Amino acid sequence: MIYTLGHKQKFCHHLSSSKSNIERKSQEMKPELIIALDVPCSDKIPSIVDALPPSISFYKVGLEIFTSDGPSALTYLKKTNRNIFLDLKLHDIPRTVSRAVASASKHGISLLTVHAGGGREMLKAAAASARDCGNLKIIAVTTLTSLNSSDLAEMGVTRPLLDHTLALGEMAISAGIDGLVCSPNEASAFRKIIGDKPILITPGIRPAGTDVGDQKRIATPEMAVKAGASHLVVGRPILEAKNPRAAAEEILRQMGV
Ligand code: C5P
Repeated sequence: MIYTLGHKQKFCHHLSSSKSNIERKSQEMKPELIIALDVPCSDKIPSIVDALPPSISFYKVGLEIFTSDGPSALTYLKKTNRNIFLDLKLHDIPRTVSRAVASASKHGISLLTVHAGGGREMLKAAAASARDCGNLKIIAVTTLTSLNSSDLAEMGVTRPLLDHTLALGEMAISAGIDGLVCSPNEASAFRKIIGDKPILITPGIRPAGTDVGDQKRIATPEMAVKAGASHLVVGRPILEAKNPRAAAEEILRQMGV
């Protein structure tokens, strides 16, 4: 691959290994566990990461910690060569999202989320901006797993939740987005429509017997993998477990990896 700008060349080269890993995982449908680092400040990240099985290479940094600490929240993950999923769920006018994607791409991340509900033009702008670097993957969040049909009805969405979610996802993929976040309950329906290639990330994972919390559309790790998820995002069932390493190992076992 040939790059023309010095700083961009260095940056894109750094990302290219992450990209090939992600694509290979998605296409072969070998599921990957992503740990959601939903903690208030980045001081806690090294001890959390170091306590988990070293085979876990993917970590999600979300709104809580990025709003608190900014890009320095990513320092330890980059130092230890982890893949970073920056879950900012961007949702704004196309120009603003396009520029935010360009800014995010400077942080050495692999995946970045936008809301599919931002509409086709916003999705196209996000995908185009990510392509300018050539390596950052954009993932569209369809319907949050904390929402159910009555929540959607209150927002004026009258079509069934599954139809709404599939429509959002189809729009995102046809706008050039690389993958989707959906509930495990929708993953198999998505695979029939979008095929094997796009990344399909499922939160709302709850091993049998764990607290559901605010999630409403949930499944076990095994169910999510069977439904076609390429990446499972898990936060509380691991971070709040008495023994996070054992909880992560059990989830990996249930995923069959
Ligand atoms: O703790 P828990 O396993 O429920 O964490 C799930 C993670 O996935 C959270 O960080 C949440 O922000 C994220 N997420 C979600 N539903 C979506 C998209 C992302 O729960 N639709």
